[in-house]
Amino acid sequence: MKTTLSAANPSQVETDCLAVVVLDRGEKGKTDTFVDSSDAAVEAAAKDVIASGEATGKALENTLLHNPAGLNARRLLLIGGGNSAKFSASDLRKLAGAAVRALKSRSVRGFAFAAPASVDAEEAARAIVEGAFVGNFEPDYYKSDRKDQKIDALTVVAKGDLQKAVDEARIIGESQNFVRDLVNEPSNCMTPTILGERAKKMAQEVGLKCEVYGADKIKELKMGAFWSVAQGSDEPPALIVLKYEPAGAPEKPVLGLVGKGITFDTGGISIKPADGMEKMKYDMAGGATMIGAMRAIALLKPKAKVTAIICATENMPSGKAQKPGDVQIAMSGKSIEIINTDAEGRLVLADGLHYAKQLGCTHLIDAATLTGAVVVALGYVNAGVFANDDKMYERFKTALDRAGEKMWRLPLDEEYKESIKSTIADIVNSGGRWGGSITAAMFLKEFAEDTPWIHLDIAGTAWTEEAKPWIAKGPSGIALRSLVEFARNFAG
Ligand code: BES
Ligand code: MN
Ligand code: ZN
Repeated sequence: MKTTLSAANPSQVETDCLAVVVLDRGEKGKTDTFVDSSDAAVEAAAKDVIASGEATGKALENTLLHNPAGLNARRLLLIGGGNSAKFSASDLRKLAGAAVRALKSRSVRGFAFAAPASVDAEEAARAIVEGAFVGNFEPDYYKSDRKDQKIDALTVVAKGDLQKAVDEARIIGESQNFVRDLVNEPSNCMTPTILGERAKKMAQEVGLKCEVYGADKIKELKMGAFWSVAQGSDEPPALIVLKYEPAGAPEKPVLGLVGKGITFDTGGISIKPADGMEKMKYDMAGGATMIGAMRAIALLKPKAKVTAIICATENMPSGKAQKPGDVQIAMSGKSIEIINTDAEGRLVLADGLHYAKQLGCTHLIDAATLTGAVVVALGYVNAGVFANDDKMYERFKTALDRAGEKMWRLPLDEEYKESIKSTIADIVNSGGRWGGSITAAMFLKEFAEDTPWIHLDIAGTAWTEEAKPWIAKGPSGIALRSLVEFARNFAG
């Protein structure tokens, strides 16, 4: 999608469709709808449809007018933003996505979105572009009759020095959709080897260093936890390392991004039920997110070093697969008693986190579709965030809010460590049912040790279960925007 900026008045923009935000400033149950714009001609064009009660400003409501009087646009799309007192840039992101989805299904290929007057112009420009990219993604890649109904061109109508904001937002939007493309692929088309190739190709395009290692290197590094999962599959594992080292960046700090890249999770010998197992193709979403984040970072060029490590493998049952009760020695030297081979994500991440520290990372963030328990705790709305360092968490929270993503912090009290004690080894890989996302995070904490670390459990949020007005059903690309925002401010 081509993105351009126009400083013209919205009513003067020549376009197939002009989209504007309508809000409701009514109080005590009464509606008082208005167009959030500073262009009287647009207000006049929308006057009748608002007066009729057809356009109320209700959140995500869309009303389309043809040949609007007094405008150069062929259509006018009024898109509801809800209560004006609560309207924010995060809402605007969704409205831009919803506008894209409403228009592309009506065969519109290009449109202009007028930045609302009530949101800061730079924030608005970012939100419109990012949200439009989110709305433009469709997961129907393998449908032989797919229509490829996409928006080709978006014009952001706003006044000010906003070209940089638009360009940066496009990089973020494209990177988020790159992640979603990777996650959308079925496991037969997205093996660890293919994920490694996709990372390499991306790295070449944007000028990143990329190494993809196989089983030999994993064993040589003594990544016993990672290998214990990989050993059960005929599909070779991949240890993907991406490095962003801008000229003139200080030696320290170095941000380490570690991703779970299970390209298919059968559960292994502790096999999962057949019902819903097909969804386990998205168990590499954390890894894909880190690859996409590195793409955006390489293009946005923050002044700090960032290293990404993706541990990619299938989790399969086979004659070579690990069994419950096995003891594995992680790269850090810690011994792990395998209680459940389906708790494989924390095993690959244990070695990924340790390796990141060995490569010099001073701060760590991991992302993983780690537990079903996080879905029980937070549903499909919030991802789970864990942190062993309040200062790092506060910085991440700022990034989260700016990126308009939803995550909720969960605790890591020492008491939870009881649940992962083993009788024969240092720790077990499953803390059982209660507080399952927390005990999984406690397991990871053993490998982050004293290094400031954040863990994102995106099991409930990496896949949108039902289409929403602003986003298709399927891979969401959650966490990319927050990670990139965090990395951009990481330099200090
Ligand atoms: N990949 C799953 C977690 C998951 C569940 C992701 C639902 C996406 C949607 C993970 O590897 C897993 O199987 N976790 C187990 C852990 C248990 C065995 C301790 C779980 O959550 O049941
Ligand atoms: Mn599993
Ligand atoms: Zn898994």
